[in-house]
Amino acid sequence: MAGRIITLAQQKGGSGKTTLAAHLAVALTRGQARVALLDCDPQGSLGEWFEAREESLGEAGTGLDFRTASGWGARREARSLSRDYDVVVIDTPPKSDIESRPAIEAASLVVVPVQPTPIDLWATQPTLEMIAKEGTPSLLVINRAAARGALTVEMSEAIRALGHPAAATQLGNRLAFAASMGDGRTILETAPGSKGAQEIEALAAEIARNLGL
Ligand SMILES: Nc1ncnc2c1ncn2[C@@H]1O[C@H](COP(=O)(O)OP(=O)(O)O)[C@@H](O)[C@H]1O
Ligand SMILES: [Mg+2]
Repeated sequence: MAGRIITLAQQKGGSGKTTLAAHLAVALTRGQARVALLDCDPQGSLGEWFEAREESLGEAGTGLDFRTASGWGARREARSLSRDYDVVVIDTPPKSDIESRPAIEAASLVVVPVQPTPIDLWATQPTLEMIAKEGTPSLLVINRAAARGALTVEMSEAIRALGHPAAATQLGNRLAFAASMGDGRTILETAPGSKGAQEIEALAAEIARNLGL
């Protein structure tokens, strides 16, 4: 059976696509899956993270493979990688449906990170419309939820009320997610057992179940 393709998509920049791509990829390798990353964002943040990871852990120690692609090439590269890997995780650029459409089309599941604010929620609409047009299964993931706050609760309810599938696991706003990536690692490696690490493990498990992995 071909590997599953998980595409991180969200037109709104800064929503957590790259952070989640790296974290989900590492989390899924823990379940013994062979995982490849595919960076379709010309900004190349995920690539920088991966290169830092190679420097920290050595080329053989990253536990992952990494490729880049752009535009329609993403679909072809993702399908090709899915023959050799159990999971392909694709990171996409913001504000470009030309760049992200092929990655959405190729996906087994599109993961849409959304921060629980009204502006982020409005900005998510075009992404959800594109996903609906392609008919790809998808999952909203609430990211950077404030630990305490009426807005988070209200927005989480609004997100769930969209009637769009949303992950039961939400990720908190934790500096440790951001900080962990600097030297090519993830919170699973810099703060194992922490709240944030538990959230990523729970989210990865939820996604793995969703994909029948
Ligand atoms: N759960 C989180 N908690 C704290 N900071 C986060 C979280 N998720 C993402 N960030 C930070 O938010 C910023 C944008 O995240 P990024 O993954 O680059 O988004 P995107 O790829 O969608 O543009 C980065 O500085 C990242 O470190
Ligand atoms: Mg990004």
